[in-house]
Amino acid sequence: MDESKIMEVAQRAIAYDRDDTRRIMHFLTVWNIARMIASGEKADDDTKAVVELTAILHDIGIRNSLIKYNDALSIHQEQEGPAVANLILTEAKILDTKIVERVKFITGHHHTYSACDGQDFQMVVEADLIANSYEDDLRPATRNRIYDEFIRTETGKKLYKGIFPLESADDRLY
Ligand SMILES: [Fe+2]
Repeated sequence: MDESKIMEVAQRAIAYDRDDTRRIMHFLTVWNIARMIASGEKADDDTKAVVELTAILHDIGIRNSLIKYNDALSIHQEQEGPAVANLILTEAKILDTKIVERVKFITGHHHTYSACDGQDFQMVVEADLIANSYEDDLRPATRNRIYDEFIRTETGKKLYKGIFPLESADDRLY
């Protein structure tokens, strides 16, 4: 996919979330990590497009979730996300149905790890978890558990181990 299309989606997502600096910085971080993982895993062009677009849009349902439910529970943001993602992709003239439907599906399930049904979904999950592991200032034991349970790709593992000091298996707290 033409890079300018992805940049346009990012600009539109920034405009959509305009007064929430933290949320914008979060998806910009997730996007960059997702790009690194997709590149490291040698994903094909369509997969790269899905991964980058979903990384940008995965949390786009939070604003409507807050407006409608006064919370950002996973179930509500997953419910609200796909329609907004669809709107932004349409405005950016990204019309490839296969790509659009996949971005909407992953956006609508990105906290439902049991729904992870492909490498594209996995790469978005890993990028989000890496960003969240930093932003949420998690305890080392929690980071170890995330690494063991959810980080599957070689590139994701390398990034996670490079960014966070993991405890050795022997002195883990759980
Ligand atoms: Fe996120």
